[in-house]
Amino acid sequence: MTDPLLHRPRRSRRTPALRRMVASSRLHPANLILPVFVKEGIAEPQPVASMPGVVRHTRDSLRKTAAAAAQAGIGGLIIFGVPRADRKDALGSQAWAVDGITQQAIADVVTEVGEDLVVIADLNPDEATDHGNVGVLGADGDVDNDATLTLYAQIAVAQAQAGAHMVAPSGMMDGQVAAIRRALDEAGHTITSIMAYSAKYASALYSPFREAVSSSLVGNRGSHQQDPAGPIHEALREVRLDLDQGVDAVIIKPAMFYQDIVHAVRPIVDVPLAAYQTSGEYAMVEAAAARGWLDREKIVRESVLGIRRAGADLVITYWAAEVARWVET
Ligand code: PBG
Repeated sequence: MTDPLLHRPRRSRRTPALRRMVASSRLHPANLILPVFVKEGIAEPQPVASMPGVVRHTRDSLRKTAAAAAQAGIGGLIIFGVPRADRKDALGSQAWAVDGITQQAIADVVTEVGEDLVVIADLNPDEATDHGNVGVLGADGDVDNDATLTLYAQIAVAQAQAGAHMVAPSGMMDGQVAAIRRALDEAGHTITSIMAYSAKYASALYSPFREAVSSSLVGNRGSHQQDPAGPIHEALREVRLDLDQGVDAVIIKPAMFYQDIVHAVRPIVDVPLAAYQTSGEYAMVEAAAARGWLDREKIVRESVLGIRRAGADLVITYWAAEVARWVET
C-alpha cells in the first residue's frame, strides 16, 4: 500500500487564494431571478407573514423594486399578479384581460427597466381563478387539460402584448409549450421566449407562496404536478417533451429536495436550466435564522451555491437582489 500521506488534498484548500482559484461554482448576480408579487387595489405594500422580508407590491413599489434589482445587476424578474378578490372567476379572466394586474405590472416594469432586466411573466391563471386551480375545471372537478391549453395560449399573447420578454407556464398541462408557442407565433410574437416549469412537483414547499398570492385553492395539485415519490425518468420525460416543443429555458421546481432532479436532467438540457428556490425554502431558512439557529447570510449563500453546483445555470430566488449585493464585489 502506498503511503497514505503521499496525497494531501488539503494542499489545494490551504489559503483563501487557493480556494478562490480552484472554485468552480460561483454566485453571479446575472444568474439570479427575483420573483415578485404585485396586488391590485392596495395603497401600500403588504408584508407576507410566512415570508419575512417579502411583500405584495403596489404597482408603484414594484416599479421601484425593479429599478433597484436592475441596479443590483440581477438577471431578471418573474412577476406574479394578484387580482382583487372580487374579480376572480371560474376561468381566471383577469389573467388575460388587457388591464389585468399582471399585464399592467409587466408594462410598468418594462417602462422602468427596458431591456436591462429580463421580464418574465408567470403564466398561470391560478391567482385569478375563484377555485384557485390552474385552468378550466371539468365535470369531474379535475383540471381539463386540453380546454386549459386554450386559456394558456390567450394568457401568453396578453403577456407578450404587455411587453413580457419571457412567459413561464407553471400549470404542468400536457402540450402547454407547443400550444403557447403556436399562439405567440400566430400573434406575431416570435421573439417572446418560453421558460417553462418543465418538472414541477406537488410539493408542500409552496404554502407561503399561496399566502402571498391569496390563493383560493382547496385540496392539492396531485393530478397534474409530479409526485415527489415518482420515478426520476418521469422528470426526464417531461423535460424532453418541452424541449421537443421548442421551449427556450427549463425550470425545475422546487430546488431543495430536488437537486437530484436538476443533476439528472442537466445532460439532456441544451437550453438554460433554472431551479426555483421556493417560498417554503425561503421560510425555513428565515425562521431558523430569526431564532439565531442558522447564520443567515452563510446559509443563504450555501443554499444558492448548492443549487448552482447541482447543475442549474439560473436560480430563481427571493434572495436574488440581496445575494447580488453580497457577491457584487
Ligand atoms: C403557480 C406557481 C406556484 C409557485 C410558482 N408558480 C404555486 C403552485 O404551484 O401552487 C410556487 C412558488 C413558491 O412556492 O415560491 N402559480
